[in-house]
Amino acid sequence: MKLQSFVACALALLPSLTAALAELTEFAADYSYTPATLTAADVQRQLGPRLSRQAVIYAQNDPRFENATMRWQVYNPPSISVVVQPGIEADIPHIVRYANRKSIPFLTVNTGHGSTISLGKFKGIQIYMNPLNKITISRDKKSALFQGGVYGQQIISYLWGKGYVAMTGSCGCVGLVGPGLGGGHGRYQGLYGLISDGFIKLNVVLADGTPIVVSDRSHADLFWGMKGAGHNFGIVTSVEAKIYPKVIDSFYAVSYIYTQDKLEQVFEELNKLGANGTQPQRLNHYGLYSLAPAISPNQPVIIMSFDYIGSQAEATPFLTGFENIGAVFKQDGNVPYPQLPHAEGSGVEDAPCNKGLTRIQYNANTQMYNVTAQRKVYELYASKIYQHPGLAETAVVMEGYATKGVTDKDPKDSAYAIRDEYIMMGINIWYKPNSTLDAFANDWGKQTAKLWNEGQPGRKPTTYINYAFGDEPIEQIYGHEPWRLERLRRLKKRYDPKGKFNYYNPIPLYGRDGIDWN
Ligand SMILES: Cc1cc2nc3c(=O)[nH]c(=O)nc-3n(C[C@H](O)[C@H](O)[C@H](O)COP(=O)(O)OP(=O)(O)OC[C@H]3O[C@@H](n4cnc5c(N)ncnc54)[C@H](O)[C@@H]3O)c2cc1C
Ligand SMILES: *[C@@H]1O[C@H](CO)[C@@H](O)[C@H](O)[C@H]1NC(C)=O
Ligand SMILES: *[C@@H]1O[C@H](CO)[C@@H](O)[C@H](O)[C@H]1NC(C)=O
Ligand SMILES: *[C@@H]1O[C@H](CO)[C@@H](O)[C@H](O)[C@H]1NC(C)=O
Ligand SMILES: *[C@@H]1O[C@H](CO)[C@@H](O)[C@H](O)[C@H]1NC(C)=O
Repeated sequence: MKLQSFVACALALLPSLTAALAELTEFAADYSYTPATLTAADVQRQLGPRLSRQAVIYAQNDPRFENATMRWQVYNPPSISVVVQPGIEADIPHIVRYANRKSIPFLTVNTGHGSTISLGKFKGIQIYMNPLNKITISRDKKSALFQGGVYGQQIISYLWGKGYVAMTGSCGCVGLVGPGLGGGHGRYQGLYGLISDGFIKLNVVLADGTPIVVSDRSHADLFWGMKGAGHNFGIVTSVEAKIYPKVIDSFYAVSYIYTQDKLEQVFEELNKLGANGTQPQRLNHYGLYSLAPAISPNQPVIIMSFDYIGSQAEATPFLTGFENIGAVFKQDGNVPYPQLPHAEGSGVEDAPCNKGLTRIQYNANTQMYNVTAQRKVYELYASKIYQHPGLAETAVVMEGYATKGVTDKDPKDSAYAIRDEYIMMGINIWYKPNSTLDAFANDWGKQTAKLWNEGQPGRKPTTYINYAFGDEPIEQIYGHEPWRLERLRRLKKRYDPKGKFNYYNPIPLYGRDGIDWN
């Protein structure tokens, strides 16, 4: 009698019970491996049977390994022992549970362009999102479901062909989710806001392997955090994000090269064009201090490029000031969106996307250019760039995307903390790995950021999370308003208390300093 009721009860419970038991016993706890001793054969034997047929597991001895683990930033990169490529989204919970049971850290990798040196603390399994690259336009054509391994050029080309656009980063080679979890800047932000502003729903696998839906209506607290601090909280297997009908057939793009004596005029003109976050909604500007020996053998030049979502005729009135300054070189054209990344030198095949270099980069942000500070940064650049021939690729970069779509959103509604920064500035010191240059580069980078930050007395320095070098104070990245970090710490405690996602500018549970993050 007793037994019978137990059986009946057990039968009634069977589906949920077996699911729970399967979770508990799927992988026995086992501390006998370290990232260094784990082999692909072990993982294949123990995890392989749980995964879809398309999933692939390999390590250093496999010809696919080098390609899958190559990094854009090779200064302090993560160290990968085994690569696991999910075949389907549902593989990811199994991979996470397996890694946890073996006590081996795991890292989500898509294009490998993440550059923060906090990634250097990682040793373990790479979950390689590359095969999860489907894009599915919704029936109402207002959104699309993007799998976690899609990237910029793929999205731009695919959607354009169907008559749509979406917010992505500017470079063809970077992912959608990697930039988007930190906000995500790009050419359409004046109209549509940041990449994360377009997120509708994220399918996320949490630190313990639980798959959840994250949106306004499901785990809304986490949705807030994943739009700006998202690398801290989970693996995005796919994201539903807004798309928009393409309203143009081509962009107008133009580049001017100026000699250094025009520097003040150029930045004064930019301050008129976009005074304090008022840059025309369809116009983006990109400035560079760069070497151009064919044009100017002994002095770095200033390259100012613009792209306009529309025709040359519409763009021209905004550009008169820059025409009048007197460029030594000009190039322009009307370019369909899929060709624009390459036309602007930021396509998948262009140098900025290439992997395998040391990238010492510091970022500072501002509302308007301080012309004096811009001059000081130029003089420092001119004094350093000729000292080591290996540094010739180094450039100072100013990105002025249109801001309206970004500033229209309430800054309290997401973890993206720097909506009131309208211009992103950076020094990109790039070279073939050469440790004799590291100290020089680091010092130069830090001095440059300091000059920019001294150019805005009364404002606190900020860092865009996706451009962080990785040693900045934590408030500089996640916001100086104390409520932001408090809220992020509560989320971290709730969703990632063991710090499984502590490799990309992690939010420390305790302490306020950015230097010892774990
Ligand atoms: C050449 C270049 C151009 C850039 N252009 C822009 C730009 O236009 N706009 C902009 O905002 N930023 C830009 N960035 C910065 C960019 O946002 C970061 O480098 C970002 O980390 C790249 O993400 P990824 O997925 O391409 O690279 P990865 O190295 O593959 O990923 C970076 C990190 O993102 C996380 N991540 C990636 N995919 C997932 C996922 N599916 N689920 C959970 N976490 C994930 C992981 O923490 C990972 O460590 C650029 C960077 C480079 C190098
Ligand atoms: C190398 O990796 C890229 C993605 O980063 C992929 O598209 C390509 O097919 C890979 N090439 C080889 C030879 O495996
Ligand atoms: C920009 O405008 C804001 C108010 O909207 C003001 O607080 C800030 O000081 C202005 N910045 C500059 C550089 O003028
Ligand atoms: C490293 O940089 C130093 C300093 O510029 C240079 O002398 C040396 O040749 C470089 N080494 C390599 C291997 O390029
Ligand atoms: C511009 O920067 C200089 C330092 O380079 C600083 O002394 C000055 O106050 C800044 N000007 C403004 C308007 O903030």
